Amino acid sequence: MNPPSLFSPLKVGPYELKHRVVMAPLTRLRAARPSLAPRPLNAEYYAQRATPGGLLIAEASPVVATGFGNPGVPGIYSEAQVAGWREVVNAVHAKGGLIFLQLWHVGRVSHSSFQPGGALPVAPSAVAISPEFRCLTADGKVVDYETPRALETHEIPQMIDAYRQGAKNALAAGFDGVEIHGANGYLIEQFLQSRSNLRTDQYGGSIENRVRFLMEVTQAVTEVWGANRVGVRLSPYGIANGSGEADPMPLYSHAITSLDKLGLAYLHFIEPRASGTGRADVDWKDVPSAMVLYRPMWSGVLVTAGNFTGDSAQRALAEGHADAIAFGRYFISNPDLPRRLQHGHKLTPYNRATFYGGEEKGYTDYPVHDELEQA
Ligand SMILES: Cc1cc2nc3c(=O)[nH]c(=O)nc-3n(C[C@H](O)[C@H](O)[C@H](O)COP(=O)(O)O)c2cc1C
Repeated sequence: MNPPSLFSPLKVGPYELKHRVVMAPLTRLRAARPSLAPRPLNAEYYAQRATPGGLLIAEASPVVATGFGNPGVPGIYSEAQVAGWREVVNAVHAKGGLIFLQLWHVGRVSHSSFQPGGALPVAPSAVAISPEFRCLTADGKVVDYETPRALETHEIPQMIDAYRQGAKNALAAGFDGVEIHGANGYLIEQFLQSRSNLRTDQYGGSIENRVRFLMEVTQAVTEVWGANRVGVRLSPYGIANGSGEADPMPLYSHAITSLDKLGLAYLHFIEPRASGTGRADVDWKDVPSAMVLYRPMWSGVLVTAGNFTGDSAQRALAEGHADAIAFGRYFISNPDLPRRLQHGHKLTPYNRATFYGGEEKGYTDYPVHDELEQA
């Protein structure tokens, strides 16, 4: 049998992807305000990137009002947000595409100015992100991160219920599945990692205890969706937002082998050679490869992301390290990315200045290859 290519089909849960060029979840800070509901511009953006049988993972969307740390992020907890997302999903489906929603809670990567009632952000423990990382307030000031409020043990089931409700809302909006955001230093990763989790209850201490929150969230979400329409994203070697486990292997081996038993749609990594949140252009060499190290522990579909080009993506598939490759920044600047990769067309470079916030510029105005040819 020939090794898989970016353009061979792939079964993901109940779906048959027609190619393996996945759009990575990308926060773009362009939701309607104050509703934080997706609007027609967002539907246009996703529809531009949809292809028949291609998988898009929509941007991280908080499941509850305490889950925000940035302005203009779309939520998935109000009726208006569900209605807005439904329009996005319909636009993607009209082009034959598939779309999952990434479920999010930022935990301590926030500021009280984003929180209901101006309260402190919540986290597993009252441990602030180190001052070398800067926090942007709702009115645009750059400050130190605040020390978050540690969630009480009795609040944790409520938080899990928020993920469950977010999953139900995503189902009501018509999504094809959901991805649980367990990466990049946000709430679930704060529970996973020893630097942000100093708890002494059943959610802290041992690896098994630190993995418990991830497992309970995943359990709740799979009860809504069925395991085969749920993905989980992890960044074992990431350092985004003050994260990073000194010795990731025991922690992530336990998490991944536990998740593997559930029959999920896929596991999704962020490779450490890219900046987890795309805020810097880096290509760290000589770093561990999440897909290479953890693939042997994962029996299902493995998606990975991080500084891939068409060639390196093809190589990762051919060498059996991953089953599909998610592209972030190049999907921003190349709405027709799968087609360009298939035909070896040149890629349009991305403009970092328009990643976060704004309107059409740098969002829906990137040309497709044919328009460039005609220009
Ligand atoms: C503008 C921007 C926003 C991002 N937002 C998210 C997000 O909402 N959720 C997430 O898991 N990763 C997010 N990421 C990380 C990307 O999904 C991806 O893993 C990363 O950009 C590496 O892939 P790339 O090198 O192809 O861009 C973001 C990255 C960028 C550049």
